[in-house]
Amino acid sequence: MSNILEIKNLSLKIGVQDILHDISVALPEKGIVSVLGANGVGKTSLMRCISGIYHATGGEICLEGQDISQLRSHEIVDRGICQSPEGRQIFSNMSVLENLVIGGGPLGRQELDHVLALFPVLRERLKQQAGSMSGGEQQMLCIGRSLMRKPKVLLLDEPSLGLAPRLVGFICELVTKIREEGYSVLLVEQNVKAALRISDRAYVIEHGKIVIEGDAQELANDPRVAEAYLGGHVHEDS
Ligand SMILES: Nc1ncnc2c1ncn2[C@@H]1O[C@H](COP(=O)(O)OP(=O)(O)OP(=O)(O)O)[C@@H](O)[C@H]1O
Ligand SMILES: [Mg+2]
Repeated sequence: MSNILEIKNLSLKIGVQDILHDISVALPEKGIVSVLGANGVGKTSLMRCISGIYHATGGEICLEGQDISQLRSHEIVDRGICQSPEGRQIFSNMSVLENLVIGGGPLGRQELDHVLALFPVLRERLKQQAGSMSGGEQQMLCIGRSLMRKPKVLLLDEPSLGLAPRLVGFICELVTKIREEGYSVLLVEQNVKAALRISDRAYVIEHGKIVIEGDAQELANDPRVAEAYLGGHVHEDS
C-alpha cells in the first residue's frame, strides 16, 4: 500500500523550545493512523505543522510525494488536507447549514448530500444554531465540515474530547465509516484503547519524540503502552 502522507524527520522549534524532534510518520492511502500521547507532548503541534499553521524547522511533509511543509495553510487545504481542529471551533452563532457551506468553500450539492448521508443527525438540524447542539452533534458538524472539501487526508485532533464514553465509541465508528468511504485519516486521540481498535498503525509521542510505533494491534498488546496509557484510565465503556 502506498503512503499518501509521509512525514520525514520533522522538527519544530518555537523560540528556544524544541516542540517536535525527528518525527517520522507514514499514513497509507485509505488508512487510519493514530498519534497518541499525554497532554502537552506535541500532538496538536504536529497537526498544525501538517496543516501549515506552524512551519516545521526541519524535515519534510510529503503529500503524494511532494513536500508541502513550507506551503501556507490555504494552499495545503487546496492540495487536499483538511483539519478538524481540537476544540471543534465551529461557528456557534451560525446554523448547521451555514457552517457546512462556509467550511466547505465552493459548495457542491453533491458534497453536502454526501456529508448529510454520513451524518443524518445534521440533516435533521440544518437550521439549528450550531452552538445549541450537543457536544457530540457539534463534533459531527466539525468533521462533516472538513469532509465538505472531499480531502485526500483528514486530520482529526481529539474528536472524542469531552464526550461521554458512549459517544467515544460512536465517533470511532464514524471514523471507520469515513475510511470506508476512501478517506485517509490521521487521528490524534487520548482514548488510546478506542483509537488503537480502529487504527492500522499508531505512534506514541513523549516530549516531542516518537518513543513507540507499530501495528495498532501490536501496540494494544504492548506492555509499555498498557502501563503508560491503558492502566485503569480507559475512558471507554466496551
Ligand atoms: N505557539 C506556541 N508557542 C509556544 N509554545 C507552544 C506553541 N504551540 C505549542 N506550544 C507548546 O508545545 C507543547 C506541545 O503542545 P501541543 O498543543 O502540541 O500538545 P498536545 O500533545 O496537543 O497536548 P494536549 O493533549 O493537551 O492537546 C506545549 O508545551 C505547548 O505549550
Ligand atoms: Mg492537543
